[in-house]
Amino acid sequence: MIRELVLQSESAYQLVDDAIRQRKTTKVLADVELPTTDMRGVVEELIEVAGWAPFHRQCESRHQSQQLNGIVPWRMYCIDAQGCRQLRRALPSENAGKLPAMLAAADVVIQVTWLPNSPSSEFQPSPDHLFEPTLANMEHIAAASAAIQNLLVAATARGISTYWSSGGALLRDEERFRLLGIGQNEILLGSLFLFPQAVEQAQVVGSKLREQRRRPDSWARWVQLAIFLLGLLFMPAARAELTETANQDWLPGLDVHIRQLEADSRTLTEERQQLLSRAAVDIAQDYRQSQSTRLNFICTHNSRRSHLGQVWAAIAAHAYHLNINCFSGGTEATACNARIVRSLRRAGMSVVTKNPDAANPEYWLQFAETEPPITLFSKRYDHPTNPRQRFFAMMCCDDADRNCPIVPGTVGRVALHYQDPKESDGTDRERETYDARRDEIGAEMFFLMRELAERIKQ
Ligand SMILES: Cc1cc2nc3c(=O)[nH]c(=O)nc-3n(C[C@H](O)[C@H](O)[C@H](O)COP(=O)(O)O)c2cc1C
Repeated sequence: MIRELVLQSESAYQLVDDAIRQRKTTKVLADVELPTTDMRGVVEELIEVAGWAPFHRQCESRHQSQQLNGIVPWRMYCIDAQGCRQLRRALPSENAGKLPAMLAAADVVIQVTWLPNSPSSEFQPSPDHLFEPTLANMEHIAAASAAIQNLLVAATARGISTYWSSGGALLRDEERFRLLGIGQNEILLGSLFLFPQAVEQAQVVGSKLREQRRRPDSWARWVQLAIFLLGLLFMPAARAELTETANQDWLPGLDVHIRQLEADSRTLTEERQQLLSRAAVDIAQDYRQSQSTRLNFICTHNSRRSHLGQVWAAIAAHAYHLNINCFSGGTEATACNARIVRSLRRAGMSVVTKNPDAANPEYWLQFAETEPPITLFSKRYDHPTNPRQRFFAMMCCDDADRNCPIVPGTVGRVALHYQDPKESDGTDRERETYDARRDEIGAEMFFLMRELAERIKQ
């Protein structure tokens, strides 16, 4: 069922992802008041979408007996452009910071509050302790934050610039609450500014932290349950069943292929086994230091073999619950070859692209229901999306290996050297050659990751 949904909405989910990525803090500051626009219709759409946020608990009944009597633990108070200008004029002239300039530009400000539970008798509220630190209150804030994020993403998708401000002292003080008719027992979670897009005579400012957020591997990782490891120690036979039993979330069709590759990975030649086992020793050493590692698959054009390496290494790492980030690059950028894409699809992966006619299309490859897609496009090995430090250079062809005697930033280098399937392009052997190289690299990556998993557990 999930698979069907994914297929039906391939382009829709990309639009959602894009809107999430494109949301960014944008402050528009104007010295003079900008003309006002009536945004009520759009704002009501945004509010409706925002309201689909998850919430775990109803707000207390005391909050439900107000003019706004919903059960959700948040409230939203919308101030239109004229209201923003009026609010600006009513601000004290001192210590207002950038607020007057933003209120001169904003099309809308939405004051979003959350609704705390009544504090117990032991709790002493103060300016630094606005609410009692209970699980219920945490969940109310979390739900209200989800509603805000929904609203910001929906606004971004409509081309509206947004800014989530904590509200500063001025928008959260008692006087402003009274002016806007906000209940004194509500707590401001955000003042959301919606700004017009094209603004002349106004300054546009971004945020401080946006570019400082690091890659997901700095804040998310797969976990290996200790109980599972213990089971493996006492049941060596369980190891062989690892992929079959541990991952049930492969895309339908790919699961059969993976079982076959795993079987093939046990019949590699002695020579290849030795090469890959040596690599596993080095990679395991690095992995133990931070419970993760990075592999960059490199070949000349980053068009065929290096993509196969990147994709299969990511899949095999997922099968063995390893926290490994896989990349690919070339000594020059060309394009991820369409024959590789077709071959990966034949193996059961879902590969889609937004720009099939581009010289170097970007593809999104999905291999499991629960995993985010892998992005594929051709790039140099030192492209900004690839790691610059602490990675293994997995050399997929002897040409790149010769032409790059030194790859800066590596902790190790593995000479995998696969034959180029390009030699069969345009011949009647093309399909079979591409699929054979695909499966050769796949089986080797399963061997490598199994070895790695076993060494890490030792
Ligand atoms: C709860 C919350 C309160 C915020 N308050 C302020 C604020 O008072 N002033 C400000 O400049 N940015 C504020 N921000 C925006 C963050 O600075 C901004 O989200 C962050 O730098 C990341 O940038 P991005 O939103 O462009 O991704 C707030 C963000 C959140 C989530």
